[in-house]
Amino acid sequence: MIYLDNSATTRIDDDVLEAMLPWLRDGYGNASSVYALGRSARVAIEDARTEIASLMNAHPAELIFTSGGTEANNTILKSCLYESALVRRIVHSPTEHHAILHPLDVIRQQGGEVHTCSVDENGRVDPASLVTFNDASTLLTVMHANNETGVLQPIAALRAAMPQMLIHTDAVQSFGKVPFDVQALGVDLASFSAHKIHGPKGVGAMFIRKGLDLKAHQQGGAQERNRRAGTEPTALIVGFQVAARKAVAALDDRATHMRSLIDRARALIAAEIPNVRLNTPLDETLPHILNLSFLDAEKIDGESLLQSTDMRGLAVSNGSACVSGSLQPSHVLKAMGRSDAEARAAVRLSVSKDTTVDEIEKAVAILSDIVRIMRG
Ligand SMILES: Cc1ncc(COP(=O)(O)O)c(C=O)c1O
Repeated sequence: MIYLDNSATTRIDDDVLEAMLPWLRDGYGNASSVYALGRSARVAIEDARTEIASLMNAHPAELIFTSGGTEANNTILKSCLYESALVRRIVHSPTEHHAILHPLDVIRQQGGEVHTCSVDENGRVDPASLVTFNDASTLLTVMHANNETGVLQPIAALRAAMPQMLIHTDAVQSFGKVPFDVQALGVDLASFSAHKIHGPKGVGAMFIRKGLDLKAHQQGGAQERNRRAGTEPTALIVGFQVAARKAVAALDDRATHMRSLIDRARALIAAEIPNVRLNTPLDETLPHILNLSFLDAEKIDGESLLQSTDMRGLAVSNGSACVSGSLQPSHVLKAMGRSDAEARAAVRLSVSKDTTVDEIEKAVAILSDIVRIMRG
């Protein structure tokens, strides 16, 4: 199998797994307990918190572990509006992940004030379109990088243009792939996930700027400074730590490798598959994603295309993995002005540090073959 769906999830790194095993097998103590088995888990968790926080230029007390990006996003949105009443309205970009859009749908249905800002043809938010919302009672949520197209948002520019707003960024796709610094970006809140960077599934974190009184969204024990109830999963947190350490240490090397693969894919597609529109621009993008759609979309059915690639041993996606299997056109491509047909006939190739040039060449050959057959 050629696996080019690393935006959906990545293979766990061997070092990550090795670091986790002792905590699954022997170090099973509850980190909140007083005896030695629990205390050693507490030390490991706090060590992970300190290291991961330092990798994003945050203070350890500003990092709260969660079960992943979805929980971090839900907690931040709902707590800001309800439990903590920090804001009275939320503004978001239309290209956010469903882990932002769907909780916002619920908030809207419950009578909450939610606004959608506009984006350009690359899916980028225009800071000028937000100035009317610039007050301290607004939460702006804009992802750092898009999971379907890889487009980076101008978060630091949004902060500079809107100094009063509370700003949250979903950094699930960007952390460990491009430099991520909470101070440089000027964000108040951020969400992370380990499984996008060769860590385990089921663990992530929220950054909550010091001084921001973000109360828990779910009630239970007093873990995570009363901000996220539930017994901490020591092994997952240690796995997240090792994955984050390796990703940030090798960030430049991995980015150079992944970008060269994406450049190769671009060149091969241009040479071998006519009538294609690339939805990933050349600049200000993540290094590992290439999204394309077919201009004769009426001939290329997205679902059939993915079934055919799967039968040929190529794992790719046509949008967010969370909606694969559904026939909905990609909301990201729609927001960028693409037609329903074009937004349905899209393919996302996403590589990792482990992907090879040979795999890219084979993948484009498979795609090209399938598209030729579908076009008759
Ligand atoms: C941008 C973005 N946000 C949030 C999530 C959800 O993260 P998790 O799978 O850790 O809940 C994803 C995963 O697909 C994502 O790509």
